[in-house]
Amino acid sequence: MKELSRIASAIAPSSTLAINNLYKQMKAEGKDALGFGVGEPDFNTPDTIKLAGIRAIIDNQTRYTAASGTQELKESICLRLREDCGVEYAPAEIAAASGAKHSLYIALQCLLNPGDEVILPVPYWVSYIEMIRMSGGIPVMVEAGHEQDFKITPEQLDAAITDKTKAIILNNPSNPTGMVYTKEELQALADVCVARDIYIIADEIYYCLVYDNKPFTSIASLGDDVKAHTILVNGVSKAYAMTGWRIGYTAAPAPVTKLISNYLSHSTAAPSTISQAAAAEAFRGSQESVKRMHAAFEARRNYMVERMNAIDSISCLKPQGAFYVMMNLDGVMGRTIRGHAIGSSADFASAFVQEEMVATVPGSAFGADRYVRWSYATDMDTIRKGMDRLETFIKDLK
Ligand SMILES: Cc1ncc(COP(=O)(O)O)c(C=O)c1O
Repeated sequence: MKELSRIASAIAPSSTLAINNLYKQMKAEGKDALGFGVGEPDFNTPDTIKLAGIRAIIDNQTRYTAASGTQELKESICLRLREDCGVEYAPAEIAAASGAKHSLYIALQCLLNPGDEVILPVPYWVSYIEMIRMSGGIPVMVEAGHEQDFKITPEQLDAAITDKTKAIILNNPSNPTGMVYTKEELQALADVCVARDIYIIADEIYYCLVYDNKPFTSIASLGDDVKAHTILVNGVSKAYAMTGWRIGYTAAPAPVTKLISNYLSHSTAAPSTISQAAAAEAFRGSQESVKRMHAAFEARRNYMVERMNAIDSISCLKPQGAFYVMMNLDGVMGRTIRGHAIGSSADFASAFVQEEMVATVPGSAFGADRYVRWSYATDMDTIRKGMDRLETFIKDLK
């Protein structure tokens, strides 16, 4: 048989699979296993949005649309960006795709030539590194541990840029750390990107989830020069509890958007019309449900962080956004719990799911082996039980 694609063969399988499989098996066996692995809201899609999808079917919106999405959807995206982020885009600068993940992938395909470098702050969201490689690029890691609030500095960024650097992927608020850059911090990073002429792929999918009444700053709002260098990525999955509808988008200068639209036209030829209609309603309709979910996430974060930091030998920073907590394992590494030697984040996550039936994600999946990620996109009762079990588990640390 002929060799299969080298690019596809080099894609790493998900490093979180083993723990998730064990968790699913426990659930299937009827055990009281608790899942803190998934990154999707536990809420249902709001009714008004669901009805817009149903209406689209009944109204026969079931045919091909423009590859980059309907005018209705693009206008609703522009409205939301204007109202929430204070940034003006024209519909011609918007390209919708089948989820923000798809938008990111297409953006990288349209920006990169073989051998181009893409700067990636660490810890990173697990898919970035593979997407960069799948697009012929080379990821260049810039470390940002909890000692620097999981944020890279302008000096670090400047030092990482070479003649081959094409872009940086900046995820703000961040999955997996929940950190949020302030306007000043973002401005300093954006200044470096403009001065060194690199693109900013700004993944702002969690922008609705910033806590403590702090404002969110979209990097594209920091001036015309910055906007001209930015490919903004966003979508409906997290803010509107619409992970299964698969709508994301890029907002970018018209020449970039044209390339993205061409690429889409020969690959997916537009996302589902029904999902496009529902997403348009999400963006232009009442934003009350976003506020309701935001309040629930904030209460869960407060509870989880307080409980975690009351336990000896582990700790976490209080994340300012998204719905994840990175638990630091420095005080646990090199020790044992109930006979399990803990030498890595995978050791910890594996022992924890086996012993206490609690599934988390080892930080190694995000290039950060000193941590385990907890998602608090689950109900308060589950979070309470999860923290009780963590407390019991850590008591047996030797
Ligand atoms: C940082 C980040 N970007 C993008 C996505 C993908 O979102 P979508 O469901 O719109 O593809 C996720 C989903 O987990 C994410 O965490």
